[in-house]
Parts: sequence; C-alpha cells; structure tokens
Amino acid sequence: MKSFSIGELTIPVPVIQGGMGVGISLSGLASAVANMGGIGVISTVGIGLIHPVKNSNYKKNNIDALRNEIRKARKKTNGVLGVNIMSVITNFADMVRTSIEEGIDIIFAGAGLPLDLPKYLGESTRTKLVPIISSGRAASIICHKWKQNYDYLPDALVVEGPKAGGHLGFKAETLENENNQLEHLVDNVLEVAVEMKNKYNKNIPVIAAGGIYSGADMFQFLQQGASAVQMGTRFVATNECDASVKFKNAFVEADSADIQIIKSPVGMPGRSLSNKFHREAAEGKRKPRTCPYHCIKSCNPKTTPYCISKALVAAYHGNLENGFVFTGVNAGKVKKISSVRQVFKKLHKEYIRARKRHLKNFILTNPRKFEYG
Ligand SMILES: Cc1cc2nc3c(=O)[nH]c(=O)nc-3n(C[C@H](O)[C@H](O)[C@H](O)COP(=O)(O)O)c2cc1C
Repeated sequence: MKSFSIGELTIPVPVIQGGMGVGISLSGLASAVANMGGIGVISTVGIGLIHPVKNSNYKKNNIDALRNEIRKARKKTNGVLGVNIMSVITNFADMVRTSIEEGIDIIFAGAGLPLDLPKYLGESTRTKLVPIISSGRAASIICHKWKQNYDYLPDALVVEGPKAGGHLGFKAETLENENNQLEHLVDNVLEVAVEMKNKYNKNIPVIAAGGIYSGADMFQFLQQGASAVQMGTRFVATNECDASVKFKNAFVEADSADIQIIKSPVGMPGRSLSNKFHREAAEGKRKPRTCPYHCIKSCNPKTTPYCISKALVAAYHGNLENGFVFTGVNAGKVKKISSVRQVFKKLHKEYIRARKRHLKNFILTNPRKFEYG
C-alpha cells in the first residue's frame, strides 16, 4: 500500500480511522491505529460526558477531557493523530481551539459545512484542516469560501458516501440514488481537487469513506484516484476500541437485517442497529424532561424524541437498554473482536490479493501490451 501526504505529514498506510462518538474512538483506538501507520482520530463530541464528572460545567469538562485524551494518545504513539469535530456541536470553537493548542496534527470537521474553520489557525499553527463532505458541490463551496475569506484551502477532503455509519449527509430518501453512490462522489470531489491544483497549485488529497470494509474495497477506491480511505465500522470490534465490550459485541452479533436508518435529533438521518430503545423513542416513551447540555445547535429539546447525548453515552458504557449503536452498512461482516494490528494485517493481505487479481485481469484483457518485440 502506498503512503500519502497531507502537507508535510507523511502517512505510511493510507488508512484513516474515522472519528466515532460518543467515546468510541478516544486515545486507545486512535493511538493503536497511528502506531500501525494510519491516522488515528479522537472523537470530540460529548467527550466531557464520559469521564467521571468533576463538576457540572459541560463546556469546561469537554475541554479538559479533550486535552487529556490528546495527551494520553500522544504518550502512546509518535504516529499521526487527528480529532473529529462535528460542526453542529455548540462547543465547536472550544474543541477546535483546544485541539490546536494541544498541537493535534489534523482536524477533521464534518456534520455541516465548517465554513469558518481556518479562522482559528495562528501564524505558526501546523494543524491541518480536513473537511468531511458528501458532495462535489460541498467540496467546491468550502474551497471557494475558505480561499476567498481566509486565503486557505483544505489540506485534504474526506468524501463520505451514504453507506457510512453515524450521521449521513443526505436526505434519507436519496441514500440509494445512483448519483449519491461513493464512486460518483469520489469522481466529483477529485474534479474539485484538480480544479484547485490548476488554479492555486495546492495538492488536496481526496479520502473516500462510507462502506469501505476490505482491502479489496480499499484497492478499488485508491485505483479510482483517492489517496486514502477512512473506515469506522471495521475498527469498532477491536480490543483497542474505547467503547464497552457490550458495544463491540453488538457488532459481532449484528446481522445486516438489524441495520436501520433513523431520524436523528441532530436533524440528519443516521444509520444504527435497531433496538428496543428506538422502538420506545418512536412511541414517544423517551422524551427528555430537561435539556442538561444544549450540546447540538440543531436539536430542539421541546420536540426531540430523546436526548441523543444521553443515549450515546449510555451505549458507550454498554447500557444498550437506554441507548443505541451507530454503524455503517457492514456491521453484519464483523465476526469477532480482534486487535488493530490484526485488522491492518488482514487489510494488507486483502489489498495485495485484489491488486494481483487486477493485474492478472489487465494482462488477460490487454495481451498485446505484454508481447515481446
Ligand atoms: C459508532 C460510530 C460513531 C460515529 N461517530 C461519528 C462522529 O462522531 N463524527 C463523524 O464525523 N463521524 C462519525 N462516524 C462516521 C465514521 O467516522 C466513518 O466516517 C464512517 O463510519 C465510515 O463508514 P464505515 O463505518 O462504513 O467505514 C461514526 C461511525 C460509527 C460507526
């Protein structure tokens, strides 16, 4: 597998572990992935809710917890580390500032367009900025706005298709549309990257995400022109993943029939495993009495069917009676809990096998190119 670069950062293995909240990817998983040569990503959403609460200051707890996780991860690896920050969270600015202060290598920002992200960079900041988008149009808007307002361009772009886990950047009824499939989106975003390269001479690597599970999937998207892939589902059932073992086992036990699209309080569709909690929420039995955190800009506590922060924190702790599990389309393929090292080894093997198959087919279909004389 070929290394790739984001600015002056070299990433030996073109694999990014997607940020997974609440608490699913913290210092444990992120550092293990970075140690294997990929990019390990700490999720910031609700990070202050999963450490023993010292006080009731939601904003401060989040800042302290993020600082702590970045430092813990840094002690465990010299590899490349990122954070994932959702644009819809009310403490977006706190999470960005804290990550930059802690010298994080990369900020991945999704769930909405992070139009003002470059304003947080200082003169000597080395942190790279990578938006997560779900269309060529969104990629183009961000590039043009950032260039116009901050004379800055994204350091890479993650394009996430409709097969991903967690919140999805599409209307629920358009998830199956041909034009929304990842192969199309990657082409569209590559076009934007070429336009930026021609206009401003900046390389913007494109990273494909959503439904990529095997080394063969990786090979397909790298062949298409992506520089790397981002994976979430494949890293949940690992020893190093920071979630409770009950959360991981939900993936091991899942069948593809258990996967459903939900309408999230965040205001976007999400993909998750179906369970009793969702059925009760649909019946109006999970309506929150109070809104303790005011954590999501787009959530209306008066109309929300449940508090998503509380539900995801419960799931992180393995309390699946009172929460639920986000997943990509491939949860049904997870058969056991393994180590991050084993996942990388398997990906490598699958990738090499796919490349060999591709070369063989190429030779068979183009025999004249391989004749002597
Ligand atoms: C349990 C879970 C939680 C997730 N949480 C977040 C999140 O907090 N922020 C985000 O941008 N993406 C989130 N995602 C999406 C992943 O980062 C990743 O891009 C996506 O799952 C890729 O698709 P895959 O799971 O098919 O590999 C989550 C995904 C899962 C499975």
